Amino acid sequence: MQQAGRAQGVPPSRRDAWRAYLRAMAIAKRHWWRMALAFAGMMIDSLTILLVPLLLRWAVDILTKPEAAGAAGDAAGLLGFAPARLSPAGGQLARIALFSLALAVFRAAGIYLEIAMQESVGNWVGRDIRSRLFQKLLRLPFEFFDRRPTGDIMSRLTKDVDAVRDGTGFVVLITVVNLVMTAGSVTAMLLLDTTLTLVVLLVAPPVVLITLAYTRAVNPLYQEVEARSGTLHTVAQENISGIRVVKAFTRAPQEIEKFERENQALFTANLGIARLNSLAGPALDLMGVLLSLVILGFGGYRVATGSLDLGVLMAFTSYASFLYWPLRQTGWLADLIGKALAGAARIFELLDEREQPMGELPRAVTSTSQRVRGRLEFRDVSFAYPDGDGAEYALRGFNLVIHPGERVAIIGATGSGKTTVANLIARFYDPSAGQVLLDGRDLREWPLEELRRQVGFVFQDNFLFSLSVRDNICLGRPDADPAQVREAAEAAQIAATIDRLPHGYDAVVGERGIGLSGGERQRIALARALLLDPPILVLDDSTASLDAHTENAVQAALDRRAAGRTVVIIAQRVATAMRADRIVVMDKGVIVEEGTHAELLARGGVYAQLYREQMSLRAGQGDQEEASRVAGVR
Ligand SMILES: Nc1ncnc2c1ncn2[C@@H]1O[C@H](COP(=O)(O)OP(=O)(O)O)[C@@H](O)[C@H]1O
Ligand SMILES: [Mg+2]
Repeated sequence: MQQAGRAQGVPPSRRDAWRAYLRAMAIAKRHWWRMALAFAGMMIDSLTILLVPLLLRWAVDILTKPEAAGAAGDAAGLLGFAPARLSPAGGQLARIALFSLALAVFRAAGIYLEIAMQESVGNWVGRDIRSRLFQKLLRLPFEFFDRRPTGDIMSRLTKDVDAVRDGTGFVVLITVVNLVMTAGSVTAMLLLDTTLTLVVLLVAPPVVLITLAYTRAVNPLYQEVEARSGTLHTVAQENISGIRVVKAFTRAPQEIEKFERENQALFTANLGIARLNSLAGPALDLMGVLLSLVILGFGGYRVATGSLDLGVLMAFTSYASFLYWPLRQTGWLADLIGKALAGAARIFELLDEREQPMGELPRAVTSTSQRVRGRLEFRDVSFAYPDGDGAEYALRGFNLVIHPGERVAIIGATGSGKTTVANLIARFYDPSAGQVLLDGRDLREWPLEELRRQVGFVFQDNFLFSLSVRDNICLGRPDADPAQVREAAEAAQIAATIDRLPHGYDAVVGERGIGLSGGERQRIALARALLLDPPILVLDDSTASLDAHTENAVQAALDRRAAGRTVVIIAQRVATAMRADRIVVMDKGVIVEEGTHAELLARGGVYAQLYREQMSLRAGQGDQEEASRVAGVR
């Protein structure tokens, strides 16, 4: 939980953020034709609306300067009939109206193009990035997930992707339209009347200043909102995932307090934004009114003195009003672009994460469909978890050879490094020093998928997907037929339980395996591993949640299926370990004893001590099942 702050990481430099944004844009390259159509649409949209004031001017001219109404008007004027003189002007106005209508229809088509195309470009980018992120996530090494809280990863997958989608979609669209509108309006104003334009530009600086001040004040608040909602997300997610622990340890008050703190900060930041918005809006509106007054005053005076046409003034006023929205939207757009930049940087930081290297050593084995023999060797292996404090070795100078078909039990106190041994066999991590070898070849020479196909795992905490029981068992072998699934379930001593479920093998398991006990989940995981029928089976304390009777049954089933299979049984209980061909006793990352049950008992060392403790506990309590469970409690 305390990792949340750290994982937010150092904010990327402006340059890196822009580079990331351009990389996001490059994803859209495939859709260049959509972008081209969107651009064409934007141009149609902006240029047609820029024509409207000219039409206005034309109409006003016709009404105020009948002599300019064209040849028809002149001809009518010669006849001296007022209505006849008006009618050509009316005809011209009708033509202007028709033209305006055509323009409006044309513009509507343009707007359709720009929105449809640019939005789809943004959504394509979002979609592509989302699937890349997800695929990337599944290729990242364990060490990555040790470093990052789930909430942080989730917010990259959702919020940041949305920011980039917007930033490559409608934000681009509005920005381009605003730029074209501003440039077009200012050019038109200059062409219409230079002096009036200069007057307008004198009023512009305060507006620009207000916009800038607003942007500068609001952007940090938006960033605050981002950060806070990220943390809020993490707190909520951790509490939902860990709801049992939260409730069992009555941690709710502290967690509520933490949530409240973040929620309050989020509230304050949002309120700050609202306050700034409520100030900036009216201030800019006021400036807009002032600007219109200046134009009307100065321009009106000139129209009155005859040095400016009314039509020009009206067209000019229209163009000046076109500047309002681009200015008004600058802060908002800058913020959205800022978010898109930050989002892109966070997304590409994740996409650039180093993947677990696969078979990077020179003699990489090419994919084979052959089963391995199953000889495992740890050669002088030392290992420290990447996020540990470095000095803390989980394994130190660890040497162990497990022969094909051998059943080796690893026993030892909590934290002695047993799970670490399993993690290294799975190549969830690579050793800091030394080598782990399968059939005499360094694990790093094996294609990762190939390696993992050869080894079946049952972990301490087994995750069940919210799928049916059958699909959970078939996870590694989707093609298995019902009879095989049933056989695996029977071997794992879970078949009877499944038969009792409302929909049997089709019963859907909750996200955390809700509805099944820890032991039941463990046996489903065991069935999953057995169905895979791997040459090597690694069971990490996977019978710990079973009662002694069920454990015996599982062990017997394993004995039947274990022939020719290398099995590594990690255990806390002597009862689980004692039947193995060889028992390895670990303490603080090293092997302290090794031998068969009988040998180790005769030796009278750690194992014998452990055995005596656990057996006397059994005898003392009289209840065998309960005793072995207590002994197994970590
Ligand atoms: N993901 C991890 N990150 C950092 N340290 C870890 C991690 N997993 C285990 N450790 C540490 O490595 C040591 C060995 O742990 P582990 O192999 O899980 O022991 P065991 O399975 O025997 O209980 C312990 O000191 C533990 O705190
Ligand atoms: Mg463990």
